[in-house]
Amino acid sequence: MNIVEIRNIVIDYKLKKYSLRAVDNVDFDIAAGKITALVGESGSGKTTIASSLLNCISSPGQIVSGSVTFKDGEREIRVESLDENSLNAFRWEKISMVFQGAQSALNPVVTIFNQFYETMLVHENYKPKDSRVKITKEAAEKRVRYLLDFVNLDADRVMAAYPHELSGGMKQRVMIAFSLLLDPSLIILDEPTTALDVITQDFIFRLLRKINRETGVAMLLLTHDISVVAKYADYVGVMYGGRLMEYGAVEDVFRDKLHPYTRGLINSTPAINKDVSLLKPIGGEPPNLLDMPSGCKFHPRCPYCREECKTIEPETFSKENGHKIKCFLYSDGEDKCRI
Ligand SMILES: Nc1ncnc2c1ncn2[C@@H]1O[C@H](COP(=O)(O)OP(=O)(O)OP(=O)(O)O)[C@@H](O)[C@H]1O
Ligand SMILES: [Mg+2]
Repeated sequence: MNIVEIRNIVIDYKLKKYSLRAVDNVDFDIAAGKITALVGESGSGKTTIASSLLNCISSPGQIVSGSVTFKDGEREIRVESLDENSLNAFRWEKISMVFQGAQSALNPVVTIFNQFYETMLVHENYKPKDSRVKITKEAAEKRVRYLLDFVNLDADRVMAAYPHELSGGMKQRVMIAFSLLLDPSLIILDEPTTALDVITQDFIFRLLRKINRETGVAMLLLTHDISVVAKYADYVGVMYGGRLMEYGAVEDVFRDKLHPYTRGLINSTPAINKDVSLLKPIGGEPPNLLDMPSGCKFHPRCPYCREECKTIEPETFSKENGHKIKCFLYSDGEDKCRI
């Protein structure tokens, strides 16, 4: 079952002199209760797509075409056409997002407990009148304590603390607890462990998976680290130059390594490719969105590039198991990389 369906989404940043297409015709699903990862180099469009799920693309970005549908039981919500009021309720209550560098989003002059409490009070106003019950401070404390315990923080200490009294890893866990506050069905985590040491990173990812498995909340994880995807995600989408190059169940994508770009990412990652002497970095540079190559956007770096790849952009080919690949090599379902 899907919780979100993204269909043919195109997103532009309309600047004064030119327009930059950050996401081009991307189509994928987010499964309820599972961890879906979007992986790709810096600038490939991960944050832009994820922001479209909350209709909060940073200015001057806008959805040019396509749709984002959130499935709330029987009800379908078209996110791109929600008005400002409905959006305020939708954010946090249905989908919450821990933004890139979110630790700095905490208010430095308010204690952690009060930051949670204020959010609870604000969101009460969006509830239908008949279900509105004034939340007491005691009830709020109970909820916050539960959430902080859940992310392995010492609730007594952290509730009374100001953000500067916490380490980066603690603040990140506070943000994860925050994202769970209003019981959303999906949490988006944008590079949740940037700037944290490797041990804390691993701790946070294991924690996220525990939360996912125990509460059933779906997660969309944005990362440039494909080894994190291999370890923690159920589904993966591989982004390149605003395109979704490959999408599928993690086990299928890593077993088959169909798209040459995905294969390049995997072969250049030490944590997956254990023999360091066999590591093969992807040659060339990431694409410049203002001067995109013709044809397949990966063709200048692709070891399997053929004539047609230079002029025609491939469509996305789907296999029966839902595995999708945007590459001519699979146009007839055969894996020509291995021939
Ligand atoms: N507010 C903005 N105005 C103009 N261009 C933007 C804006 N935000 C993003 N872009 C451009 O859109 C493209 C996609 O950016 P995005 O932040 O979605 O990539 P990303 O995959 O999340 O990268 P990173 O891994 O660095 O976070 C980039 O070329 C970026 O420069
Ligand atoms: Mg980003």
